[in-house]
Amino acid sequence: MRFEGRGVLVTGGGSGIGRSTCLRVAAEGARVAVVDLRAERAQETAQEIAASGGRAIALTADVSKSASVDNMAASAIDAFGPIDTLVNNAGIAAGDDILTFDESTWDLNLSVVLKSVFLVSRALLPAMIEAGSGTIVNVSSVNGLTGIGEEAYSAAKAGMINLTQNMAIKYGPRGVRVNVVCPGTVRTPIWDGVVADKPQIFDELTRWYPLGRVGEPEDIAAAILFLASSDASWITGQTLTVDGGLTAGNPRLLEDVDIDAGFPDAANQKEGL
Ligand SMILES: NC(=O)c1ccc[n+]([C@@H]2O[C@H](COP(=O)([O-])OP(=O)(O)OC[C@H]3O[C@@H](n4cnc5c(N)ncnc54)[C@H](O)[C@@H]3O)[C@@H](O)[C@H]2O)c1
Repeated sequence: MRFEGRGVLVTGGGSGIGRSTCLRVAAEGARVAVVDLRAERAQETAQEIAASGGRAIALTADVSKSASVDNMAASAIDAFGPIDTLVNNAGIAAGDDILTFDESTWDLNLSVVLKSVFLVSRALLPAMIEAGSGTIVNVSSVNGLTGIGEEAYSAAKAGMINLTQNMAIKYGPRGVRVNVVCPGTVRTPIWDGVVADKPQIFDELTRWYPLGRVGEPEDIAAAILFLASSDASWITGQTLTVDGGLTAGNPRLLEDVDIDAGFPDAANQKEGL
């Protein structure tokens, strides 16, 4: 029970990775504030926690809007007591090509993915600093690490990594740890539109993954809980990639060019020459 007595707020807690994080952290003893743009989703997660004997409240907010975030943070603390753990998880992915998407698509990605981390962290950090302890886990993506499409989303996810590092060095001395998780492909409702078009998408994407499968929400929730828990008490400013080996290298390179013929110097040394 690593989270006994702790107050945890998860944005985008009504679905996918956020929902799984809420359920797991509640099972480990936390009070959980489930925040989502979609009220019914937040309520479903909170009800599921309550049905298993845990404590949760559902809060509706748009994490890309400062007034909505400030109201939500005040309600969470009023109704539920101090929040010592924040998981900035809410996200959307829109548009795929800077030559075809419009300015509003760029702005939407940057607002929901990146600006939201600024807004929600700004609302909850002061109480953590005052208490002298707290932890924030941001949910970025492998898209923030390398070029794999979805330019606006990816640029925003890359921004989250730098923001994490800066928050970590600035607030570490005040007792607040800040880390970031970069998931690979995870089977969640964020993919619903793609799946409707291409039902075999996860099977196709599996070919990218050395561990032979795409991720499940629980794979990412486990990493989030680790970073948020006291198991990670000397870890801050770090990027934990949870991607079944996707970014460890490119197995197709090994298939494309055969270099089994070997390297003469190594062969000579092996033979003691
Ligand atoms: N699923 C993946 O393959 C994958 C991979 C890498 C990173 N991620 C990231 O993981 C996070 C969670 O994604 P998921 O796959 O669980 O998606 P999801 O769609 O299942 O859940 C996201 C939740 O965020 C909420 N949300 C969206 N915009 C919001 C807003 N403005 N304010 C408040 N809530 C809002 C949605 O209503 C939804 O409930 C996202 O940041 C996503 O970018 C997902």
